[in-house]
Amino acid sequence: MTPDRTTIPIHTSPVPRAQPMKRHHSASYYAHRVRESLSTRISKFICAMFLLVLFFVGVIAFILWLSLRPHRPRFHIQDFVVQGLDQPTGVENARIAFNVTILNPNQHMGVYFDSMDGFIYYKDQRVGSIPLLNPFFQKPTNTTIVTGTLTGASLTVNSNRWTEFSNDRAQGTVGFRLDIVSNIRFKLHRWISKRHRMHANCDIVVGRDGLILPKFNHKRCPVYFT
Ligand SMILES: *[C@@H]1O[C@H](CO)[C@@H](O)[C@H](O)[C@H]1NC(C)=O
Ligand SMILES: *[C@@H]1O[C@H](CO)[C@@H](O)[C@H](O)[C@H]1NC(C)=O
Repeated sequence: MTPDRTTIPIHTSPVPRAQPMKRHHSASYYAHRVRESLSTRISKFICAMFLLVLFFVGVIAFILWLSLRPHRPRFHIQDFVVQGLDQPTGVENARIAFNVTILNPNQHMGVYFDSMDGFIYYKDQRVGSIPLLNPFFQKPTNTTIVTGTLTGASLTVNSNRWTEFSNDRAQGTVGFRLDIVSNIRFKLHRWISKRHRMHANCDIVVGRDGLILPKFNHKRCPVYFT
């Protein structure tokens, strides 16, 4: 009982004091609250609008990027033959010939190629090199054929290496890698990209006759930049 009585005055005494205060402030207090909630709502709305605009700008940028991003040229090995592989003394008479197609897969973007060189590797050792093309501009969707023939001077095959070739051939196949190197720039209207050093690497296996195995012919050569 006593604790109740003591608590009641404590409860009641602030209430009458608080009530006039609350009444006194209520009008401006509510106006303030309304203003505050209104400005909160407006800022929330602006925030939402901003995010929405940002989202759509992002979507549009993404679509533009998808349709305009440059695609690297596509290289396909079309033919590869090592002549003279069957001759034991063959280095002097050896001849390597190949064809590669280059496709610019871009619908609107042209590609500037600096001069293009071909390198032939056997077990990661370079056995030949040859200039393939002078600088040229490839139009969108164009396909260009590159032909390379390596003989005598452009083949750096010593007799030990030739013996290795012959031994591989006796096993049935000889593996090579053709590395095509150029610097390329993409062109879209007036915009021209910076130069990218490009490599196309074709894995090639030839049979006893020196001709590329059908499994490896017409295959796409992976392209990478360095
Ligand atoms: C490459 O293409 C040319 C012309 O299309 C063709 O005459 C030749 O036989 C092909 N093969 C090689 C290994 O050069
Ligand atoms: C690709 O471009 C070259 C040079 O402009 C042209 O000679 C060749 O015919 C074109 N090839 C195709 C498939 O359009």
